[in-house]
Amino acid sequence: MASRMREQCANMTKMIPVAPVDVLPPGSRLHFELEEESVIVLNVDGNYYCIADLCTHDGGPLEDGEVVDCQIECPRHGARFDVRTGKVTRLPATDPIPVFAVKVENGIIFVEEPDPW
Ligand code: FES
Repeated sequence: MASRMREQCANMTKMIPVAPVDVLPPGSRLHFELEEESVIVLNVDGNYYCIADLCTHDGGPLEDGEVVDCQIECPRHGARFDVRTGKVTRLPATDPIPVFAVKVENGIIFVEEPDPW
């Protein structure tokens, strides 16, 4: 069914439907495997973001990381990343994490198809 719901945006980026908005209230997150890549979709104060579930410091998962002020903290060694841009905001990571576009249409959250990383 998901493949039938896929669509092309005006800029030809493939957007994949992942969930209805009511399953992702503010402060929550969902983990997905999209095109064989692990991503996390977060609702931070009513805004949706999608990031790779992969810390660039040592490959740890970010899924259970605490989110404060739009930053997610890696549970392993404490690196932080801005979920809006992927930029590192605290060491020991030095490289950004991939982020993906998110849109909401007709109550459904869509995520940009991830490129392999
Ligand atoms: S694996 Fe994330 S900070 Fe080390």
